[in-house]
Amino acid sequence: MCGIVGYVGRKSAKPVLIEGLKRLEYRGYDSAGVAIIRDGQLHLCKSAGRIAGLEDRLDGEPQLATGTVGIAHTRWATHGAPTEDNAHPHTDCTGRIAVVHNGIIENYAALKQVLEEKGHTFRSETDSEVLAHLISEFYRDGDNGSDLPRAVQQALREVAGTYGLAVVCADEPGMIVAARKGSPLIVGVGADEYIVASDASAIVEHTVNVIYLNDNEMVVIDEAGLRTLTIDNVPVSKQVQQIEWSLEQIALGEFEHFMLKEIFEQPEALRNSCRGRLNMREGRIQLGGIEHLSRELVKTRRIILTACGTAWHAGLIGEFLFEDLARIPAEVEYASEFRYRNPIIEDRTVVIAVSQSGETADTLAALREAEHKGAMTLGVVNAVGSTIARETDTGVYLHAGPEIGVASTKAFTAQLTVLTLISLYLGRRRFMSETTLKQYMEELQAIPDKIETVLAQSDAIKQAVEACVDRDNWLFLGRGYNYPVALEGALKLKEISYIHAEGLPAAEMKHGPIALITEGMPVVVVAPRCGTYDKIIGNIEEVRARGGTVIAVATEGDDRIARYAEHVFYIPDCPPALQPLLTVVPLQLLAYHAAVARGCNVDKPRNLAKSVTVE
Ligand code: AGP
Ligand code: GLU
Repeated sequence: MCGIVGYVGRKSAKPVLIEGLKRLEYRGYDSAGVAIIRDGQLHLCKSAGRIAGLEDRLDGEPQLATGTVGIAHTRWATHGAPTEDNAHPHTDCTGRIAVVHNGIIENYAALKQVLEEKGHTFRSETDSEVLAHLISEFYRDGDNGSDLPRAVQQALREVAGTYGLAVVCADEPGMIVAARKGSPLIVGVGADEYIVASDASAIVEHTVNVIYLNDNEMVVIDEAGLRTLTIDNVPVSKQVQQIEWSLEQIALGEFEHFMLKEIFEQPEALRNSCRGRLNMREGRIQLGGIEHLSRELVKTRRIILTACGTAWHAGLIGEFLFEDLARIPAEVEYASEFRYRNPIIEDRTVVIAVSQSGETADTLAALREAEHKGAMTLGVVNAVGSTIARETDTGVYLHAGPEIGVASTKAFTAQLTVLTLISLYLGRRRFMSETTLKQYMEELQAIPDKIETVLAQSDAIKQAVEACVDRDNWLFLGRGYNYPVALEGALKLKEISYIHAEGLPAAEMKHGPIALITEGMPVVVVAPRCGTYDKIIGNIEEVRARGGTVIAVATEGDDRIARYAEHVFYIPDCPPALQPLLTVVPLQLLAYHAAVARGCNVDKPRNLAKSVTVE
């Protein structure tokens, strides 16, 4: 996601736009830009990096200081590296129309080709730039003279994907046209001024009167005031409502911490990870990023996944997924070990680097070692244009949106989602039947709604944690696909609540760690319905026989496990391969509530950084 702001009024647009971008920076912050209209000219200023850099650059651009109409954008790249050229606003060839966009234009490649054939020249790698040229195409061809709102409507009818956008044109100096589909957009209604923005945090210091646009709705703001209509040109009456939040809260929405916000964003994040990739009608997985290498990838003899921390836990699940769904031998390696081990890389080996930030030093070094030894490399990365994303031969982006909390949550489940998509993509090209693929696709599509039912148990998890939060040693147990989930649950608890915790394959407990169990020691057991359920019930009984306190994650309808556990948190049923997407959520919430109960800095835990770019 990203942040967009637009202003029409009597004040200088520049300070309103810049302050608005700062309020939205949490939504994305890899590059930024503004476009302001003055004296019939459109003036543009963009920069890579944080908004402060744009602000500095604007100090040297007096032509942008006094215009009263403008738009601005702070980016979280999805297509094209976070460079100045890829920063928004994007303009058409004449430089008279500028657009800022939040979302993904799924058919941008096809649109770009048509526009280039019509003579349009593109200056960026982004999907968003097609909007500027498309609107320009319709604006210049307007039957009844140049009509910007109509041109925007005609352009949007050609677009597949999601957008929150705002458009200005030097030939319509007092006008902003804005529209939304799938990305948020609201309009602040002030005294003879209007502010369009991604959320209220950019508006609330100017006015509390807002109009919330729904999908497929647009707004036209000009000297006559404000008109709301559908993108099919049907007038829509909208009620002006009042913002009830304080500025601080809006930056986090209704959440106290970014980590909690990102835990609750997971349903939307996973919908975005799957967007345009689950072709349900034709029953196939679409991964444009690897399509051109699919013949080679299908012949892979071995997959090595390399990562660190939470991403390594995702890689371990990826190992199981590739062997289970694609029948390709796979193994996960700690990047910090792999890079120095002089690993054996044989012919037809694919190395997959898994990384939220795409900048982790150990993972990058492991990737370079693999490339040095001739492996084909593939990135599973969240940050577009990051170093790992740029250095791999190919890749599949997470599209999870910016993850601000240091403890990785939505990026982890998005990594699992993408690894599942790749496993199914390869599996269908190897031994998987069409029927089996379609079943998995339907199950994957249902996961976001199922996560919602798990999130609803947050208060119950909070209460359970508060009873154990003074215990300094916890165990996490799981089997099969849920063994890595136990490792991830232990890491989450350690890194934000500073409680010592250890994750184990459940059967391993009796080979030593069971000596740790004392009266009241919390033991979290991930025990959904699967082939080894009875075995893990046995492990739970071993824990209880030694006085341990059991907290279980189980499948809805399991009325047996409650006999053995002090607390049970339930997940909806789903295939074992997809269970980690659900079983990890109670563990994320458990760690979060424990950290809050212990008064820890949840979003910036001690000693940690969001991206470990050093060895
Ligand atoms: C996750 O909660 C941690 N913050 C950390 O383990 C992280 O997963 C690890 O540093 C890898 O980061 P990356 O995904 O950006 O490469
Ligand atoms: N898809 C657009 C880009 O990559 C917009 C991303 C965003 O929402 O910030 O530039």
